[in-house]
Amino acid sequence: MCSIIGYSGNENAAPVIVKGLRRMEYRGYDSVGVATESNNHIELKKGVGKVEVVNSKFQLDDLPGSIGIGHTRWATHGKVTDANAHPHPSNSGKIAIVHNGIIENFDELKENLKKDGYSFQSETDSEVIANLLQKNYENLNDVKNTMIKTVSELRGHYSFIAMFENGQLAAARYHEPLIIGIGKEKYFLSSDVLGFIEQTDDVIYIDNGNFVLIDQEKMQILDFDGNEIKPQITKVSKEFADVYKGDYAHFTLKEISEQSETIFKAGETTKDSIKKSSDYLKNAKNIYLTGSGTSHNASLVGKYLLSKYAKIKSESIIASEMPFSENIIEPNSLLIALSQSGESADVLEAVNIAKKSNCKIIAILNSLTSTLARESDCVIGMNCGPEIGVAATKSFTSQLIILYKIIQELSDEKMVIDFQEISSSISQILMEHNKIKKLANEIKDISDIYVLGRGIHYPIAIESALKIKELTYIHAEGIAGGELKHGPLALMDSSVFVIIINPGDSTYQDTLMSAREIKARGAKIIGISDKSSDVYDYWIQIPKTHELTFPISETIPIQLLSYYAALEKDTDPDYPRNLAKSVTVK
Ligand code: AGP
Repeated sequence: MCSIIGYSGNENAAPVIVKGLRRMEYRGYDSVGVATESNNHIELKKGVGKVEVVNSKFQLDDLPGSIGIGHTRWATHGKVTDANAHPHPSNSGKIAIVHNGIIENFDELKENLKKDGYSFQSETDSEVIANLLQKNYENLNDVKNTMIKTVSELRGHYSFIAMFENGQLAAARYHEPLIIGIGKEKYFLSSDVLGFIEQTDDVIYIDNGNFVLIDQEKMQILDFDGNEIKPQITKVSKEFADVYKGDYAHFTLKEISEQSETIFKAGETTKDSIKKSSDYLKNAKNIYLTGSGTSHNASLVGKYLLSKYAKIKSESIIASEMPFSENIIEPNSLLIALSQSGESADVLEAVNIAKKSNCKIIAILNSLTSTLARESDCVIGMNCGPEIGVAATKSFTSQLIILYKIIQELSDEKMVIDFQEISSSISQILMEHNKIKKLANEIKDISDIYVLGRGIHYPIAIESALKIKELTYIHAEGIAGGELKHGPLALMDSSVFVIIINPGDSTYQDTLMSAREIKARGAKIIGISDKSSDVYDYWIQIPKTHELTFPISETIPIQLLSYYAALEKDTDPDYPRNLAKSVTVK
């Protein structure tokens, strides 16, 4: 949820760190800070706001020295304040830390440290790490043993980087990502390769329960008992470097616009996995799909596709509900886990639960080097390139394409899915953006928007409502068409807008009827359909295509509508308030 970065090399550390933090801001962006070491002295600057804002206010990148650490925060313990921003110095000021994750036993550790005379300047759980390190370092006088002792006392999920006043860096990983980048006479430590990708593509993924020591002479990786680990260097794809907005005003708009291309790449580098996953599906006793947020909505589409086109029954379970759904997973079954990041803590926990029941795991994900990729038996890559905007857009359509490819593989006489037709439909809708922009202006002051769909279009309605909430902060809800008269109809009056997802397939007539019932109560209707109707106050036309193209075609205009409404409301579409791109804490 937060991003951490460390640098030890031959350049000024602060500008390198600030650049890395800008790239990782998607992980959390409520406050930012940098600390550097120079002449055996640690200097630190931090504050509330995004990297750009805090840097121009405090000139973080002016800090002296060639060793440093940095952080962008997504608050978990303690409000968004300057004091709670990282880095946190220890009481002596001789150690500073940045932390991502949660220290579950921080209360107990804090009380003990207070008894030893330590004081605390923040409300965070993270600050205990700095003082615990100081206490252990003063007793042991050696960084390696200090780290072994400290990690043995911490409970929770964390990765942290500590900088000592002699310029040594130490970092530990426990269920939160930590990656080393190896450049010429320089090392990076980071939550994501995006933190240093411009400088090197040689990386080491630190395993869970390991820590790293970096000083002027060498870099060492050890396990939590202090045994040295042989480093395994891998090359990451340079494609990761493609994280610029180009001519687009926002990443979100860039990512929406890329979809006519990205859909072609879905599953392409992992073609064998599509075949392998269909074999797993054919032989599985029970099949479950899981994910969070948008990825869960894609899993609902998956469930529908499997039953309709492959006659395979499955169950979709929200990842965060899995720990509370006792006995839902039958032993020796199959779990399909969908996740853009492959790092969502809820999804990883769901996978863990399924593995305990001896289930096979198929992962559909964007980040092939993520924790989920390493936990799975079969990995299918979305290959849609980095998705920086917090709202998932292109990853959703890539997930759907992969699900299409799986059902195509499962069908006896290979179903024909025209991916070119899907791409052309997306391009056609993207050309309508001026019309959608105008509509965004109409909805900007509305307080409630409902999105209605039936069958496979119901998950699209839920996903659309999620996009509207997240980007515009307008209350939005997805409604299953048939449920309208079982409750939601009571909400319909002239103050609300209802988006009707109504392509010309088997759901058409029933959904048109729902639209009429709503219209009769005075609500304004936005119809998304290939057919016009007098019931629509606003009609967003989508091309008439194969029924499998519709879920993707109808998603695009709502992504655009949400994006433009965010601009109308002067909110930041790339970084919605209170959210973070990958939710790596529970
Ligand atoms: C979607 O727009 C969200 N930002 C969010 O719901 C997201 O889909 C969810 O957190 C899951 O992330 P993942 O796909 O990386 O696991």
